[in-house]
Amino acid sequence: FVGTVDQLKPGSFLRNLDAKTWVMRFDATQAARESAPEGAIIALYQKCPHLGCTVPWRPEFSWTDPRSGETYQGWFRCPCHGSTYTVSGFRVFGPAPRSMDTFALTIANGNITVDTGKIKQGGTGPTDNSSRAILPG
Ligand code: FES
Repeated sequence: FVGTVDQLKPGSFLRNLDAKTWVMRFDATQAARESAPEGAIIALYQKCPHLGCTVPWRPEFSWTDPRSGETYQGWFRCPCHGSTYTVSGFRVFGPAPRSMDTFALTIANGNITVDTGKIKQGGTGPTDNSSRAILPG
């Protein structure tokens, strides 16, 4: 259990150190960029698929999205070698061979549960990760 849907407004996130996860919920702008439904939720494994450093979410960090050419704030940015990922964990820059891995996620009665025993390897396509995001209720 990592939190409730009520705690996780669109555009916000939950951090759970025990589960080593970032649980991200897309607002309208993020959803459009990721080709996912507004309000969808995804659980990302914090471990960088390059050499395993913990990747922080950096809401203030600004980068140019190669998909659109748009520069905006809010990226995952690995402190070790600079791999950079969108809010859905899609890799846009750096030596990582793929996007961030995801955990299986269930939402029942407003409670969000992450199954850390079920890791799905991040893909390389722009919607491989975002297509795994789910809408509550
Ligand atoms: Fe993250 Fe190298 S470990 S970029």
